[in-house]
Amino acid sequence: MEMIFGRDRGPVTDEDVAEAYPWPEEGVWVRSMMVSTLDGAAAGPDGLSNTISGDADRQVFDAVRRFADAILVGGGTVKAEGYGPLRADPDDTERRRAQGQRPAPVLAVVSGSLDLPLGDDGFAGSEERPLVFTGATPDADRLAAVRERCEVVQSGSDSVDDGWVIDQLVERGLRRIVCEGGPSLLRAVVAADRLDEADLTLSPTFAGTSTTPDTEALPDVSRFELAHLLTADGFVMARYVRRR
Ligand SMILES: NC(=O)c1ccc[n+]([C@@H]2O[C@H](COP(=O)([O-])OP(=O)(O)OC[C@H]3O[C@@H](n4cnc5c(N)ncnc54)[C@H](OP(=O)(O)O)[C@@H]3O)[C@@H](O)[C@H]2O)c1
Repeated sequence: MEMIFGRDRGPVTDEDVAEAYPWPEEGVWVRSMMVSTLDGAAAGPDGLSNTISGDADRQVFDAVRRFADAILVGGGTVKAEGYGPLRADPDDTERRRAQGQRPAPVLAVVSGSLDLPLGDDGFAGSEERPLVFTGATPDADRLAAVRERCEVVQSGSDSVDDGWVIDQLVERGLRRIVCEGGPSLLRAVVAADRLDEADLTLSPTFAGTSTTPDTEALPDVSRFELAHLLTADGFVMARYVRRR
């Protein structure tokens, strides 16, 4: 992998990939990690992002979430992508503990329906009990089922405000947050003006956009500045930081 734009231009070793995605020493930082095709699709013809991903994207994906406190995803993505349990590499666990972090990132899911896959090999089997954010009056049976496997946090109304979700994570000491989408959740985080960094992989593919969810237009464009560009195997991995 090579950095072609940014402060440390030149070859990037596997270990250095995570160093290219630093977290601030203090304060809350929310970054997104998404992959897009050349025609703007967020998923392949099968409705999955893996189809448009590749080794270079996966390497950056792992590096971006490696020392995160929480991985935030929408219910649509958990269902579509079949999220497995979150686990950290044993060496990373040591470093995480030394840095005062939990042994592995906590998975945080936003879901109004609570219609979530709860099997042992799914997200609910994570080392750290997942958090599920939902509204005030979800379906009672689903609420009971999700509570058995996850900590459920209910908002005060039927809607879930994404700024409130991030505040709840921070209250639990989870201040390094990776939002892994999908597009609907990411749009809401941007609309709440809580996104600090957007990490985007451009995949050298076309896929058509019918499996990519439409999102509502924002009231105004949200502007970011380019911090770096990495490249490998024809993929371009961009890191943008919010212009404030
Ligand atoms: N290219 C990429 O990097 C990438 C990344 C992630 C996902 N994807 C793809 O994107 C697609 C899924 O994206 P998506 O936009 O449909 O789904 P999404 O953003 O993952 O999830 C949307 C769902 O999240 C829940 N949700 C989000 N905000 C909420 C709120 N404020 N209140 C209540 N519930 C809320 C709802 O779940 P309930 O329906 O459970 O109520 C809603 O239906 C899949 O095809 C996936 O493969 C691509």
